[in-house]
Amino acid sequence: MLIVFTNTKGGVGKSTLASHLAIWLFDLGFRVALLDTDEQQTSAQWVTVAEPAITVVSAHEMDDIRTARSELFASHEIVVADSPGSGGDASQTITLLADFAVVPLQPSKPDVRAIKDALKFVRLAQEMNAGARPVLSLVLTFTAKADVQTRRLRSQLEQLGMSVAKAEVRRLNAFRDACDTAVTRNISRDGREAAGDLESLYNELFGECLAAIPKRRGEPPESMEQAANG
Ligand SMILES: Nc1ncnc2c1ncn2[C@@H]1O[C@H](COP(=O)(O)OP(=O)(O)O)[C@@H](O)[C@H]1O
Ligand SMILES: [Mg+2]
Repeated sequence: MLIVFTNTKGGVGKSTLASHLAIWLFDLGFRVALLDTDEQQTSAQWVTVAEPAITVVSAHEMDDIRTARSELFASHEIVVADSPGSGGDASQTITLLADFAVVPLQPSKPDVRAIKDALKFVRLAQEMNAGARPVLSLVLTFTAKADVQTRRLRSQLEQLGMSVAKAEVRRLNAFRDACDTAVTRNISRDGREAAGDLESLYNELFGECLAAIPKRRGEPPESMEQAANG
C-alpha cells in the first residue's frame, strides 16, 4: 500500500509524520520504503540518517515518481510518500497513485478555509478512481489539550463530510527536536508522550490494514496494539 502525506500548505507536519511512520513501520518489522517527492528532501534526509536500513528514494518528476513506485513495490509491502507543500506536479502525481492520503492540518481558521485547495488532488484522484482511492483522512496537528478552537474547527470539518482522525498530534517540543531520529525510539518522558500521539494515530488509520500485511522477518502475527506497546 502507498500512503501519502499531502497538503498544498507547508509547515503542517507532513515530513514529520511521514518520516516517523516509515521508522515506526520498520521497527514493527514491515518491509517499508520511503519515497520523497519534495525537492527539499526533508524526510529523505531524515530517514537516511535515522535508519540507514530503510530504502529511501527521492523523485520529483512525474515519470520518475511512477518508476520509483513500481520498483519499490517489487520488494516492499508499504511505501510511505512525502509530498511538497505546493500544488505542483509531484503532489498531483503521488496523490493519484496513493491508496491512503493523510492530510495534516493545523487547527487554525485560515487552514480550514484553505481545505478545498489542500484537498484538490485528493478529490481529483478519487474522481479518477471512481471514489475508491485514495482513502482520505485529515489529521489535526500542533494541537493543544482541551482547546475550544480545535474542537470547533473539528466539528466544522466533520459537518463538511470530512473524515477527521480522532487521534490528534499535539504541539510538543519532542517533535520539533526529533529531526534525524524518531520520538517512538525515545525513552524520555517528552518523547513517550509524542510517541503515544503517533501510535494512536497510526493504529487508528492503518491498524486494520497492517494486520493483513506479512512482516519482514516472518514473525508470528500479533495484534498491532501489542506490537506498538512491545
Ligand atoms: N507536533 C509538532 N509539535 C511541534 N513541532 C512540530 C510538530 N510537527 C512538526 N513540528 C516542527 O514544525 C516544522 C514543520 O514540520 P514539517 O513536518 O517539516 O512540516 P511540512 O513537511 O508539512 O512542511 C518542523 O520544524 C518540525 O520539526
Ligand atoms: Mg515537508
